[in-house]
Amino acid sequence: MSTKAVLITGANGEIGHGLVSRLREQRPELRIVAIDVHPLSKEMKEQCHETIIGDILDTTLVDRLAAFYDFESIYHLAAILSTKAEREPVLGHRVNVDGTLNLLELGARQARATGENVKFLFPSSIAAYGLPTVEAKMKAGRVKESEWLDARTMYGINKKYCEDLGRYYNWYYRQIDPQTLTGHVDFRAIRFPGLISAVTMPTGGTSDYGPEMMHMAAQGKPYDCFVPETATLPFMTMADAINALLKLESTPAKNLTQVVYNIAAFSVTARDFYEIIKKEYPNAVVNFKPDPLRQKIVDSWPADVDDTWARKEWGWAHEYDFQRAFDEYLLPAVKRRYAGK
Ligand code: NAD
Ligand code: SER
Repeated sequence: MSTKAVLITGANGEIGHGLVSRLREQRPELRIVAIDVHPLSKEMKEQCHETIIGDILDTTLVDRLAAFYDFESIYHLAAILSTKAEREPVLGHRVNVDGTLNLLELGARQARATGENVKFLFPSSIAAYGLPTVEAKMKAGRVKESEWLDARTMYGINKKYCEDLGRYYNWYYRQIDPQTLTGHVDFRAIRFPGLISAVTMPTGGTSDYGPEMMHMAAQGKPYDCFVPETATLPFMTMADAINALLKLESTPAKNLTQVVYNIAAFSVTARDFYEIIKKEYPNAVVNFKPDPLRQKIVDSWPADVDDTWARKEWGWAHEYDFQRAFDEYLLPAVKRRYAGK
């Protein structure tokens, strides 16, 4: 008999770090199986039932997982983020799309074998949107899930396509098979805004300028910000992002009419970041040196999103607004992290 467990891919990443410890705290009985191409720290390993250094593109590894475990939920976090995927688009497509397909197939196979649905949590992104100009972006305001979906980056296109794949596995998988399937992949995606963690530094993303500015100031290092002061994006603390994943996971399927949900917390400019950081670190040096190419990507992502569906259907509510995020979550943890360094 297979062992009941939850699977977390990309567990060594920013969300993975927070998710593993929150799951361990909230559901200590849970067997967490974690995969990443990079080794997890000793601390992370201790919180998991099994950790695997491996590639989600390795189908032999995915088959081995299917043979040993019976996953009730799959948190599929492994991905190549937007800036890196723009530099290496073929790699981005392979990991972000082919990797996701491997995991969806794993879920579908398990659901078929057990007759029970397998929940599949997918962190999509505001990169799935594509607004043509900064004027259109500012005029659009809070964008709904079905609007402005002409993504302009490899990463955004990959996310949008994987949302569609998830919708297919959820509702239409093998729809012309004469036999009715008893279990299916219960796909649930959140289009996350830029995430800010106090304990990890982001890498490879386009929204990284916000968190990078804070981490550099806390270390007393100058920071060259690659977007102009006016650049506006929605952001959220990692704590709220993890709350959202867990809340969506625990919502009964009957309450959900969508497979993809926006969630929002605060929408701020790069200047807003600078000002709030400056209050705590008056000597912080931030040079606004926009990179017009990376700026174009930020300009194509919405300034804010409409999260009515998430609030209505699964009770999404953020805990941290911008000020509280800094005062109560980010600054205390960042200070502890860099104390004495
Ligand atoms: P991250 O880059 O910190 O983590 C991704 C992890 O995936 C890394 O540890 C990496 O080693 C691993 N990985 C990459 N390729 C792999 C492969 N082939 N096989 C196994 N592991 C692989 O990113 P994150 O911020 O933790 O993001 C997690 C997920 O959330 C991603 O899907 C990302 O697109 C999504 N997301 C993140 C943000 C954000 O602002 N951080 C916003 C929206 C969506
Ligand atoms: N924050 C992510 C990035 O910038 C978007 O999902 O890549």
